Amino acid sequence: MGKKPDRNGDSTRSVHAGERDHHFANSVTTPIFQTSTFWFKDSAELCAFQEGRLEREEYGRYGNPTWAAVERKLCELEGGESAVLFASGMCAATTLFLALLPKGAHLIVTGDCYRRTRQFIRDYLVKLDVETTVIEPADTKALAAAIRDDTALFFTESPTNPYLRVIDIEETVRVCHARGVKVVIDSTFASPVSQRALDGGADYVIHSATKFLGGHNDLLAGCAIGSAEAIAPVREAVGVLGGVIDPHAAYLLLRGLKTLSLRVERHNANALRMARWLEEQDAVRRVWYPGLESHPDHSTAAKLMRGFGGVVTFELETDLEGAMRFVDACRIPYIAPSLGGVESLIEMPVTMSFWDVPREERMKMGITDSLIRYACGIEDCDDLIADLEQALRAI
Ligand SMILES: Cc1ncc(COP(=O)(O)O)c(C=O)c1O
Repeated sequence: MGKKPDRNGDSTRSVHAGERDHHFANSVTTPIFQTSTFWFKDSAELCAFQEGRLEREEYGRYGNPTWAAVERKLCELEGGESAVLFASGMCAATTLFLALLPKGAHLIVTGDCYRRTRQFIRDYLVKLDVETTVIEPADTKALAAAIRDDTALFFTESPTNPYLRVIDIEETVRVCHARGVKVVIDSTFASPVSQRALDGGADYVIHSATKFLGGHNDLLAGCAIGSAEAIAPVREAVGVLGGVIDPHAAYLLLRGLKTLSLRVERHNANALRMARWLEEQDAVRRVWYPGLESHPDHSTAAKLMRGFGGVVTFELETDLEGAMRFVDACRIPYIAPSLGGVESLIEMPVTMSFWDVPREERMKMGITDSLIRYACGIEDCDDLIADLEQALRAI
């Protein structure tokens, strides 16, 4: 999954890809096409479009030049032929499932998976008689054993949330493709700067573009990238299901993407240093970060990733109240869900995403009372660590 020699560097592609060859009144930046529909000059032009002799926009749910620029940039960043944008990361996942799973199909997912994705599978895909097998992340033996003749898709995040498990994409693809199963990687926690799943043979990469791709905690968006053939049914589905991105949000995403590489380098560096520092603290029971040798998937991450992501998960040597005192004492990160933005965010899964999961159940999932998820922003690492140091004293 190394860099191909004929490819520009990450920052050059972040800045220029998808925009340079398109001239809108010689504007350096791509305009926001704030329109819901596109007019035809006469019936002959309309007929040429309908017959496929003319490529152009028609109606705002099917395409928009501002989105198209983002889609081209994402293709170059992920190494795909085609990309499609959505109103949110959830919309990317749900549209992909609905587009690709036949009625009654079998689906395999990993346990350490975004809870709303799990909820969609549990509460909605069952209505299409989709049967789902849940396996441990990174367990390719369990994956091989779970595949059936009617298995259509394997869906996993990598890295996962909150334990940042890293999937060996090449091995996973080998196992799945041998049985005709398509592989979808939710690469939100990595970004295309740290991991390129299509290079490893995955059929689809999806992202919550709300996170690293947008990067400023100011928009919601999602995307799916793959070969032109793979993306065609997904694009068709979003035009029908309707979860499309607003042109203004698409512009914010395009603007955010220009600094993707710079930002991710800082997120990754901050997280690695913070994880190493946390591991040395007596008040910290355990740290999960794929860049640490103590992480179960460190060798896979070192092989496949360039940088290990901006999120660090750790458990404190304290109880629920002590952990809350620690979080409340932090002065730099905001207490908020999400990740991948310039502002650092901190959360306790127990008081955030697992709030309504009964204690016994969440303990079985390893979500303990003093578990913390720290999404590093791009602030100065010395400041972040000094802040953590004073917050640990507040326990
Ligand atoms: C890994 C992952 N995938 C998908 C999503 C959903 O993305 P969005 O919030 O943009 O709908 C999230 C959201 O937190 C996520 O963490």
